[in-house]
Formats: sequence, C-alpha cells, structure tokens
Amino acid sequence: MRILLTGKNGQVGHELQHLLPSLGTVVALGREELDLTSADAIRKTMRDVRPGIVVNAAAYTAVDLAEQEPDKAFAINGTAPGLIAEEARRTDAFVVHYSTDYVFDGSQKTPYLETDMPNPLSAYGHSKVAGENAIRASGAAHFIFRTSWIYAAHGRNFVHTILRLARERDELKIVDDQIGAPTWARTVAETTCAALKAQYRDRSGLYHLTAAGSVTWFGFAKAILDEAKTLQPDLRMPALIPISTSEYPLPTPRPANSCLDNTRLHTTLGLFTPDWPVSLTQCMREILSPCGN
Ligand SMILES: NC(=O)c1ccc[n+]([C@@H]2O[C@H](COP(=O)([O-])OP(=O)(O)OC[C@H]3O[C@@H](n4cnc5c(N)ncnc54)[C@H](OP(=O)(O)O)[C@@H]3O)[C@@H](O)[C@H]2O)c1
Repeated sequence: MRILLTGKNGQVGHELQHLLPSLGTVVALGREELDLTSADAIRKTMRDVRPGIVVNAAAYTAVDLAEQEPDKAFAINGTAPGLIAEEARRTDAFVVHYSTDYVFDGSQKTPYLETDMPNPLSAYGHSKVAGENAIRASGAAHFIFRTSWIYAAHGRNFVHTILRLARERDELKIVDDQIGAPTWARTVAETTCAALKAQYRDRSGLYHLTAAGSVTWFGFAKAILDEAKTLQPDLRMPALIPISTSEYPLPTPRPANSCLDNTRLHTTLGLFTPDWPVSLTQCMREILSPCGN
C-alpha cells in the first residue's frame, strides 16, 4: 500500500512521517515538493504517486494572518482538500484530512458533537469548513478528524511560547475564560494510524479527535510550567496571572468553548485518547530532557 502524506514538516505531519511507515510505503511531501495552492501540482502528484491512502496534514494555520489573506487560506484549506479528494475518488483511494474546533463559534456550553452546526468566527474557520464540505462532496471515502489546541516538541505552538516567555519575563498574563483540550500531535498521528489499521473503509466520516479532558489556556500554561519545574528544578518561574479574553485582544476572535466530544471516535472506531496532562508530561520530557531521562 502506497501512502501519500502532505505537510510532512508540520506538527502532525512530522509525527505521521514516523508512524505511517507501519502501514505501507510512505511518500512524504513538504510545501517545496507539493504546494497546495497549485491545482495542477495536486493533480500531477496524485496521478504520479497513485496512493491507496492520502493523508493531508498540510494546512494554512496562521489564524490571524488568514484575515488578511483569506484567498490563500481558502485555496489551501478549502479548495486543495477537495482536489485531493476528487483525485482519490477516481482511483478509489482513501482520504484522511484534519479540521478544527474553529469551525464552531464556541457559544455552546457543552462539548461539540459532529452533528452540531459549524458557525466559524474567522476566515481560517470558514476555510476549514469549506475543506470538510469539499471532501464530503467529492464522494471519496474519508476520515475527517477535527482536533484542537495542537502542540508538539517539533514546531511552533503554545508550549514552546510559554517556555520561551518564562525565560524572558517575570510575569505572564494568560487567558482563563477559553476552554479546550490541548492535544499532542502524536496522539493525532497514533489515532490516525490505529484508525487506518481497522476496517476503515466501512467507517468513512467525520470524527472529533482530541485529548481527553479540558482546561483553560491559563490552566494549560500552569501545567506546562509545573512540568518544566519538575524536569528542571532550577528553572526560573514567572508569576502567572489569569486574565479574560477582553484583556488580551487579538485580530481574530477565538471560540470560548473549544471542547469537542470524542464519543463517535470511541463507539464507531473503538479508539480512546489519553488525558491531556499525561501526554503533556511525555511531550515535555522530549522537549526538556531529549535523551528521555
Ligand atoms: N495547530 C493547531 O492548534 C490546530 C488545531 C486544530 C486543528 N488543526 C489542524 O490540524 C492539521 C495539522 O495542523 P498542524 O498544527 O500540524 O499545522 P502546522 O504545524 O502549521 O503544519 C502545517 C503544514 O502545512 C504546510 N503548508 C502550509 N501551506 C502550504 C502549502 N501551500 N502547500 C503545502 N504545504 C503547506 C506548512 O508548511 P511549512 O512548514 O513550509 O510552513 C506546514 O508544514 C491542520 O489541518 C490544522 O488545520 C490544528
């Protein structure tokens, strides 16, 4: 089985690059080898590689910048997944794609189900909804995994930002009224591989895939610093101050509730994800004691 992976240098793509070879021969491409803004390049690559499975881990993920260049975000997140899926449909290949909690407005008080109506607050969220719809419309068999608050040892993310700011500042003000599930990119990659090892063709569809449990950004920052202090006892600890979203204005609104309900992942695919603090501990060990000590 040949597997085509796009976005090999991203957080999730990097983890998939290590795990997908257990399922077949992987052709892993970064932006320089396959630019998803080019329809011709997408069609040519799909026809040259002829994958049995295509895993699209590439995305335009710069949420605030997307407001200034919505056409680019839409091309990469909305149009490209549809083109990939149309090509996959022609050859009966299976598509794996990732989407986001940002498809929702966050006003619901309970975790979102796959059946809840998207209502994005941002250009990024709109572009990701378009990608989901394009894959469904193609008729290709697929998994669309909606995930949230991704972090990893590799890449730019909240964990690295907090560790850097802790070295630079005496005080960190962190939003304490947005809740979500911080999800290790490895959890996404491992769950993807486990899903592809099962009878995946019969279980095509949309799934929420996040770590178990939830926390605010403030709680997440505190857990990162507590873990860092355990691993590096002489680490300088800044004061952590909880603030509200209104005290930290960003160009783009974020959902107040980013929690996704993983029940369908459990009942249909038989898959469970670790509690977020368990994965955070593992990832932090990789970041701060890379030899695994
Ligand atoms: N990050 C999150 O918190 C989060 C939350 C929910 C859902 N998701 C979704 O999860 C998936 C994986 O996210 P991630 O965090 O792994 O993203 P990431 O780290 O930002 O990686 C995205 C990758 O896509 C590549 N890319 C960007 N534009 C491209 C283009 N025109 N052609 C080809 N490749 C391009 C980037 O290439 P370069 O390396 O060259 O920039 C990067 O390697 C995405 O679908 C994302 O929407 C992410």
